[in-house]
This record gives sequence, structure tokens and C-alpha cells, in this order.
Amino acid sequence: MSNGSKWLFTDLKQELEREPLHIQGIFPEWLSGTLFRNGPAKFMESHLFDGLAMIHKFAIDHGCVTYSNRFLRTPAYDRAMTNGQTLSGFASPSSSGAKGYNANVSVTRIDHHFAALTESPDIVAFDPCSLGTIGVLPYEDDLPAHYTTAHPHYDFRRKSLFNFTVQFGRTCSYHVYGMPDGTRRRKLIGTVETTAPAYMHSFAMTENYIVLVEFPLIFNPLELMQGEKSIADSMHWMPERGTRFLVVGKNSGKLERVFESDSCFSFHLINAYEKQGDIFIDACAMKKISMGSINPGHLSESAYNPSNQPAMLRFRLSPGKTVAAVERLSEETMEFPGIHYRWSNAAEYRYAYGTSTNRNRPESIENQLVKVDTHFGTAKTWFQEGHYPGEPVFVATPHASSEDDGVILSVVLDGDGGSSYLLALDAVTFEELGRAVVPHHIPYGFHGLYTNELFNEEEGG
Ligand SMILES: [Fe+2]
Repeated sequence: MSNGSKWLFTDLKQELEREPLHIQGIFPEWLSGTLFRNGPAKFMESHLFDGLAMIHKFAIDHGCVTYSNRFLRTPAYDRAMTNGQTLSGFASPSSSGAKGYNANVSVTRIDHHFAALTESPDIVAFDPCSLGTIGVLPYEDDLPAHYTTAHPHYDFRRKSLFNFTVQFGRTCSYHVYGMPDGTRRRKLIGTVETTAPAYMHSFAMTENYIVLVEFPLIFNPLELMQGEKSIADSMHWMPERGTRFLVVGKNSGKLERVFESDSCFSFHLINAYEKQGDIFIDACAMKKISMGSINPGHLSESAYNPSNQPAMLRFRLSPGKTVAAVERLSEETMEFPGIHYRWSNAAEYRYAYGTSTNRNRPESIENQLVKVDTHFGTAKTWFQEGHYPGEPVFVATPHASSEDDGVILSVVLDGDGGSSYLLALDAVTFEELGRAVVPHHIPYGFHGLYTNELFNEEEGG
């Protein structure tokens, strides 16, 4: 690994407000909106997922870009800043019962609020104008929830967000829910009971189904409930179980079908859709996972492992069968996938974007961006030696005439310069349009949200 990638796991202390960024190249005139990004910015030794949440904000307007960033002010932040300790995080036992609310994974909109999410069910609202922390946003329901995903889906036809919670107990439950626009009320759709709940970082949604994909990383609920082990230590890799696809009807709320496949693990499903009775689910899938090794020290020193890179796999669930058919979509690997969500979500689609590892310059940290044509398996890449891009976010042109008519935005670390920039690529050609240079480095990030709105101070968000 290049030495420059160490900046990905170096704390960022500085907080800036509306810093005008120097532009190289151009940001298109039509591109007007705000990109929010979430990720750890003060690292805790225990685990990457326990790094303290920071929200980064890029406001793009008429070719100009300003940048702001603020830590979420949470109990986890207060504890870490006071005595350097982690408060009941992913890799720290929760025996004290105190919650950290360190929502460092993603950003979404819930009931007119902007909220930071993680996998504990509590969401933290922030002001999209100042990035000030508003606080935990309570749900208007009593749905049991010990765990959830930070990757809800949005159903444009039903005008509802979908997600599920996990309830731990002697028997555990997955509660699939919908949350209609403009509410914070999670409406239970259906419950699937299990004695061996899987860790699921994301799930699949088609027009008619929610598919929970149980990779064989299995929680031991007893260990979790006793509070002596951390979440990470309560998960156990059990490849002999294989992978299971639980197909839940959005209308029926029932577990309608179950499919199986060989063991593998995926953090991120790319997209899913139905076609002629079959369900197709695309995923960035590795052969196995070692959750304990995802800590800053290990990540910054580990060597490239060619045998466990995330491949783009397509699982086909056909009526009358119980085993999923599997096909590899591209020779390129892919993580942090993104699609033209408004155009393609839950529908047959062509283009997926993601980060990957350059096959001629392999590193353990993703060092390029990739666009894969899923129809033909061909790919375009963007690569610059010693630079490390994060999740690509697709933004469509105002009247997009094709699926890839837009730009890709990605926060990239320049490992040599020790600073980061917002990169804009033409999503069709994957050629660089421009970059907006940030005066400091931005550490390893997870997920973001783009909106066509701008949040000016006078408007108060
Ligand atoms: Fe994720």
C-alpha cells in the first residue's frame, strides 16, 4: 500500500464553515445542489466503525463549490474528547447501558429532517445549513428494534422508505417496515422469526418484495444480551450455513419464498429487480469476512489479498427452485456501489458505479473508480496513482435522456499531498470534468446523500 493512504486513517480535527474551494477544471453550470458525506474523523483503536462521525458538506452552485465539516456532537463524541474512550460502540461492550449515538455511516432524509444513520436504530438529526447537531430524532411508534441497517430503500411509487429492524431475544425477529413520506412512524409490514439472526448491512428491494439476504455472519443473541461482548465479537462466521435469501412480500408481509446459495459475504447490495417472475439481486460479494480485522491499524498496514476482493455477483431467484443461480457481472471488483437511483432502483438497469482496486496497481484500499455496464460486462475506470476515491454518487442532468446522463461525484484523497478534493466525472465517458480542492485531508468515508437543494444561512435550512 502506498504510504499516502495513511491519511485515510488519520484524525481530522479542523472544522471549516463555507470555505470556498479552488476549482481545477469545471463543475457544470447545471450542477446546483449539496452533497453531504458521513464517516469517521477521529479514529478509535477498537474498530473503524467506532470512529467519531463527521458530516462533510459540499455546496455546488454555478461552478463554485464551498466546503463545511462538523463532528456530530453526541455522547460518544463527548466521551472520546474527554477521556479518549469509546462509549458502547461496535467493538466495545455495552454493559454500562449508556448509548453513544455515534451515527457515522450514512445520511438520509426522514420526515423533513436530515439525519445521520448507523446500525443501532437511533438516528441523529443535523441542521443542513450549519451542520449543527440537533439530536436524536424519536420515532413515532414502538416497533421493537435492537439493530437495523443504515441503508434504507426508497420506493418512489409507494412514496415510502423501507427498512427492517432486528429484535434480539430467545427467538429473534426481523421486522420489515415501511415509513411513508412526511412521518416518523414505522409501519410494520411483516415479521420473520429466527434463532440465528444474520448480520445484514443492507438488503434488496424490488417492486413487490423485500429480500433479506442472510450471509453466514451470525449473531449470538445470548452473548449480545449479556452485554459482555461487543457487537463485533458477537458475530460468528459460519460458512457451513451458506447464504439464504428471505423473500418477503411488500403487500402480504409474509415470508413467501426462501432460496439458498454458497457462503459469501456482502456489505452492499447494488440493485435488485423482477423480470418475468424471477428476482435478480446484484451484490458486491467477498468469499468471507473477518469483522474484527476492520480496524484502522490493520487496514493501513494490510497487504492486498487477491483472493478476497468484492466481485459483482448476480443472484437469480427463480420460481420452483430453491437454489439461486449465480453469475459474475464483471472482471472488475466493486465496493461502495451506486446507481442512478431515481431511474433504476428496483428496476432492470444497466450501469453500476463503485470503488475498486486497479488490477495493475493492486492495493488493499480501493484506489480507483469504476463504471460497469452490466449488460456487457465492460468497464470504464478512473485512476490516479496515490489517490483514493470514496463512494461515487450519481447526479442526473436536469432532463436526463439516458440512464448515465449526469455526473459522478466522489471525495478523493490525494495521498501525496495529504489533502482531499471533490471530483466530478462525466458519467457517460468517465472522463474528469473538474475537482474542488479541500484545504485538508478527509479521512476514510462511508456514505453520502446528494440533494438539488442549497442551504443558505439566511434561510436557516
Ligand atoms: Fe454501507
